[in-house]
Amino acid sequence: MFALRPERPATLEVFVDGAAVPVPEGASAAAAVLLAGAALIRETQVSGAPRLPYCMMGACFDCLAEIDGVANRQACMVPVAPGMHIAPQHGARRAFPA
Ligand code: FES
Repeated sequence: MFALRPERPATLEVFVDGAAVPVPEGASAAAAVLLAGAALIRETQVSGAPRLPYCMMGACFDCLAEIDGVANRQACMVPVAPGMHIAPQHGARRAFPA
């Protein structure tokens, strides 16, 4: 009737603000940030207040981060990949690279 799955998902290693973090395969980059115990993943543009992922479903945009060098990505919508680099986003993203 019900199949038990005692095996755990494989883990892979990503880097959150430079620190190596083991995360389950299939997790989101936002989950990796929370697993890392990070203090913030972005700062608000106006006051600089720290933010962490909140809704985990693409609605609040509090998870905007720089992922593998690309800013303004919704970390909760991005599945982790081995060696992924997730960095906090500070302030607003520039529309065009300098
Ligand atoms: S956590 Fe809300 S949009 Fe990503």
